[in-house]
Amino acid sequence: MFSATRQRFHLPDGVIYLDGNSLGPLPVAAREKVASLLDGQWGEYLIRGWNQCGWMDAPTRIGDRVGKLIGAPVGSVVMGDTLSIKVYQAVSSALELNPGRRIILSDTGNFPTDLYMVQGLLRSLDRGYTLKLVEPEEVAGALDDSVAALLLTQVDYRTGRLHDMPSLTQKAHAAGIVTVWDLAHSAGAMAVDVASCDVDFAVGCTYKYLNGGPGAPAFIYVAPRLVDRVRPALSGWLGHAEPFAFELSYASGAGIDRMRVGTPPVIALAALDAALDAWDGVDMADVRRMSVELSEQFIAGVESQCPELVLASPRNSEDRGSQVSFSFAEGFALMQALIADGVIGDFRAPDIVRFAFTPLYIDRHDVTRAIGILADIMRDRRWESTQFQTRTGVT
Ligand SMILES: Cc1ncc(COP(=O)(O)O)c(C=O)c1O
Repeated sequence: MFSATRQRFHLPDGVIYLDGNSLGPLPVAAREKVASLLDGQWGEYLIRGWNQCGWMDAPTRIGDRVGKLIGAPVGSVVMGDTLSIKVYQAVSSALELNPGRRIILSDTGNFPTDLYMVQGLLRSLDRGYTLKLVEPEEVAGALDDSVAALLLTQVDYRTGRLHDMPSLTQKAHAAGIVTVWDLAHSAGAMAVDVASCDVDFAVGCTYKYLNGGPGAPAFIYVAPRLVDRVRPALSGWLGHAEPFAFELSYASGAGIDRMRVGTPPVIALAALDAALDAWDGVDMADVRRMSVELSEQFIAGVESQCPELVLASPRNSEDRGSQVSFSFAEGFALMQALIADGVIGDFRAPDIVRFAFTPLYIDRHDVTRAIGILADIMRDRRWESTQFQTRTGVT
């Protein structure tokens, strides 16, 4: 079913790439797209490119392409900045929409940057806000009328545990809470429908399952029913109603354009634009079905052949995103040994090895081979070799 999409990616010979939850592989079309932007647009049009090559509209045009993959209506998603910045924008706007409350609720499974950005925001607001963290399974019980905003990442970056976005959003709304969902590990991994879930804000990155490349721009969705009430805290000139009037005071632009901040990363947007072509004609339900099949195959194979590895992801596929994690005390060294043998996943402290199952370019045959290589390494205890013990900056 996915043999055509696999051809769209460059995968080095001998590599089984199970790290699409961290950084998707190079889409072949990105090479030509970026080269033609450099030579044919920047090189030839120079500053005229902003108007004549559509650079200024790229954040909303490509935002609509990402929007299709997360169930967002046209005109409700814009690209730019990094996900950390988009979290800041969304949470600050959410707090303003709920001025009488002082708690931001999140969970201990959230990705640290989301929490750090909120901590920094609350420090500068200095208005008595508190960031309250509960265990992931306690979120539903903590939704009460003291909470201004709920900030959750739908799929846990370490374990792949999936939050029930429709039900938590509904419960939050019943308690008058504004919701912010981080879709970093769900956009492009599974069907997401921000509109039917009635989510208020959603944010995400595009370098993981959307294959936009290292540092690819992030996205932000604001529900159309709210966007004209939102006052951006990061009030940059390109979110202004009339950026080229160069007025001295900020006035927010119309609709989702107000969530733009500064000059868009045009080259990175071109790479992402090419990457999104891989989704043309692809049904996200098929992606999810195959990702579950591959994940189940991997879990069964690893559990039968590598008893020292303990499943750290939910066993039930309905409670899991598109990644499978195992815990193992020597997980870092194990991952280094796997990478040396061509199976690329990654490691998250203290003891988690993670593997993503991305049907656009991974199939059952890859999974069978990955299990075999992992089983050989475990049997021979190859992680014990000193060459696999040195920690590098990025794990
Ligand atoms: C859930 C989540 N949020 C945020 C980030 C990182 O944000 P940024 O793109 O700003 O580095 C990650 C990175 O893996 C993530 O998994």
